[in-house]
Amino acid sequence: MKIAIVGFGFIAQKGHLPTYQSRDDLNLRAVVDPVSARREEALKLHPGIRVYETLSDLLEDCPQEIDLVDICAPNVFHIPAARQALAAGKHVLCEKPLALNLAEFEDIKQLALEKRRLLYPCHNYKFAPSVVHAAKLVRSGAIGEPLYASFQVYRVSHARGVPEWQPHWRRDKAIAGGGIAIDHGVHAISIAHSLLGGAPKQVAAHIRNLGNDKDTNLTENTALICLDWESVLVQINLTWVGSVRKSSFRVQGTEGEICIDNDDVILIDKNKNVTPCIVPTDFDDPSHSSWFSAVINDIQHHIATENYEPASLIEAGRVAEIMEKAHQSSTQGGGWLSLKL
Ligand SMILES: NC(=O)c1ccc[n+]([C@@H]2O[C@H](COP(=O)([O-])OP(=O)(O)OC[C@H]3O[C@@H](n4cnc5c(N)ncnc54)[C@H](O)[C@@H]3O)[C@@H](O)[C@H]2O)c1
Repeated sequence: MKIAIVGFGFIAQKGHLPTYQSRDDLNLRAVVDPVSARREEALKLHPGIRVYETLSDLLEDCPQEIDLVDICAPNVFHIPAARQALAAGKHVLCEKPLALNLAEFEDIKQLALEKRRLLYPCHNYKFAPSVVHAAKLVRSGAIGEPLYASFQVYRVSHARGVPEWQPHWRRDKAIAGGGIAIDHGVHAISIAHSLLGGAPKQVAAHIRNLGNDKDTNLTENTALICLDWESVLVQINLTWVGSVRKSSFRVQGTEGEICIDNDDVILIDKNKNVTPCIVPTDFDDPSHSSWFSAVINDIQHHIATENYEPASLIEAGRVAEIMEKAHQSSTQGGGWLSLKL
């Protein structure tokens, strides 16, 4: 598969490039980045590729050389780049979040279906080994019927982008489109799909910029999101004001509970039998490079089987709708709002 990366920053370099370089079936041909220092870095790390300032330049120069456009630019550039790549007949892998609202999502999905090209959001957490293991246990009935899920994500600040562009773009509403709710909420919602199946029916939320409520250009640093998920109540707490980095994803069922706590998956039944299992996952490596090969395998499978509605695309639509309604709920005082997808 011949690939072009759009946006050669942190995730492209540390998360995606290692897999492109380690597999014979993947061929990185080009990199697009408006910043010359980032294009130079790409050339240094992967000599022989073509580099361009814009995706239009690439598509004009060598349209036949690319099968898949891998969009790793900051959030606000995702939809325009995806639209351009799909219109040129390319398959698209897009870093999360694919879309920031439902209208945007429905529009881009329609284009992908019309063009019969894969539009694949990079929901990589579903391929994290500890999440895969926990999902198998839940599906096997190890905790009975899931009743309640509680996901906690603490970070000591927002993640920084590469210094050559705008390292604090995640706090800028105009570029990020939202703060931690979208940045980590995507992953939490994707994990909920893996662990629980089904779909959320209602959302309620409180979204705040704790300690800095007055600056309306800054994205939020804390989000408490509740989802009515079939018969399961899901609570997602996300914050950038933590003291240490930690993540845990816990599901309580009728017969026991399961908790993913970084690399540990702990199963506790109602008789207090504790079955801990260490599943090496590298949760604390923010590039998640070790999960990316599985993302690519899934992409190849969907292209080969011409399935243009992968699970992660369905999730991306739900994420866009949840985020739109979560912000609405928060401004209206935190009440439930129905979801249609
Ligand atoms: N799935 C994950 O686990 C994960 C992890 C980190 C980041 N991400 C996502 O990856 C994306 C990039 O994040 P990052 O941390 O790598 O950011 P970054 O700031 O490190 O890199 C962004 C790069 O995009 C370039 N760029 C800026 N404007 C551009 C444009 N119009 N067209 C093309 N390139 C442009 C910048 O020069 C920079 O090199 C974000 O959408 C983020 O949400 C996903």
